[in-house]
Amino acid sequence: MTAGPLPSLTASRSIANYDRSVPRPTDRRRATSPANGYRGPGIKVRVPAKINLHLAIGDRRPDGYHELMTLFHSVSVYDTLTITPADRLSIEIVGDTARDVPADHTNLAWQAASSLAERHGIEPFVHIEIHKSIPVAAGMAGGSADAAAALVGCDALWNLHTSRAGLTDLATELGSDVAFSLHGGNAIGTGRGETLSPVLGAHEQLWWVLALADGGLSTPTVYAEFDRQKAEADAAQNQPDPLAPPTELLMALRDEDVQAVAGALRNDLQPAAVSLDPSLQSTLDAGLMLGAMGALVSGSGPTCAFLVANAESARTLASRLTRENVCRTTRVAAGPTHGAQLC
Ligand code: C5P
Repeated sequence: MTAGPLPSLTASRSIANYDRSVPRPTDRRRATSPANGYRGPGIKVRVPAKINLHLAIGDRRPDGYHELMTLFHSVSVYDTLTITPADRLSIEIVGDTARDVPADHTNLAWQAASSLAERHGIEPFVHIEIHKSIPVAAGMAGGSADAAAALVGCDALWNLHTSRAGLTDLATELGSDVAFSLHGGNAIGTGRGETLSPVLGAHEQLWWVLALADGGLSTPTVYAEFDRQKAEADAAQNQPDPLAPPTELLMALRDEDVQAVAGALRNDLQPAAVSLDPSLQSTLDAGLMLGAMGALVSGSGPTCAFLVANAESARTLASRLTRENVCRTTRVAAGPTHGAQLC
């Protein structure tokens, strides 16, 4: 991002006690046991999930990534990280999906702490507890969100005062969606998704029902299926340039016209996600039949996002979807919301 203050860095910082109250033993994964027991004061950071209201995909680049034109939208499903001083770097995952998330150096939050420490020439010695609510491998940038939160939290704990541009640089190196998780709100993403321009939108302007699927989809696999389908289609016809800005959607957001937003939703990865998991089409159809104004697969899926008029419609649609048994579970969420933020 290049404009405006980063909310996460201007928010007040609270020193919270380490929260041991939440998990059952089976819900915990720990890579290492820090000798000091990480009982000291810590930093808490809350970070939202995202959906893409527009995801247009261009050519595959020589580095393997695809050029994008996307509109990111942060939604009120949050992971919370508690970061405490320790004598080594360790990570612990808490929550129903803990067993699906690696608690080692492959976790993006671990890599975020390491890269921030390396940038400042210090040791990355913290214990990071990640309380997961963002669904895993679900197209909602859960891993990227945790990386953004680790950057903000470690920066505060180590008193580094890294500039906003410095944090964004590190975020960009970590993954395509991490810079957006740092920023939140609504933003156009270009390049591989990491180059952001903010888009105005009233806080929690849109209400969503998220239909969570059984299992996840691998993002590289969905992009590979997109390439396969595109190669077939290109052989048959010339495709228009997909990377024009989503003008209709931007106007609909500016006008707070939910019906127009619903009509302008677009995800080029949706056909690939549906072909890898055909049950997603039944979920999308069910949501629209049961009253959603708009529907799309979130990012690379398999979460389906349904746009509705307000909070009450969201609760009604969520319970109808649950009764129809077309997905594992549902969540109600509003967006846009803030990015990674101390709490
Ligand atoms: O950047 P990130 O690690 O989140 O990307 C995960 C994978 O998604 C990449 O390895 C790539 O296969 C695919 N991807 C892509 N083009 C993008 C973003 C992601 O092909 N713009």
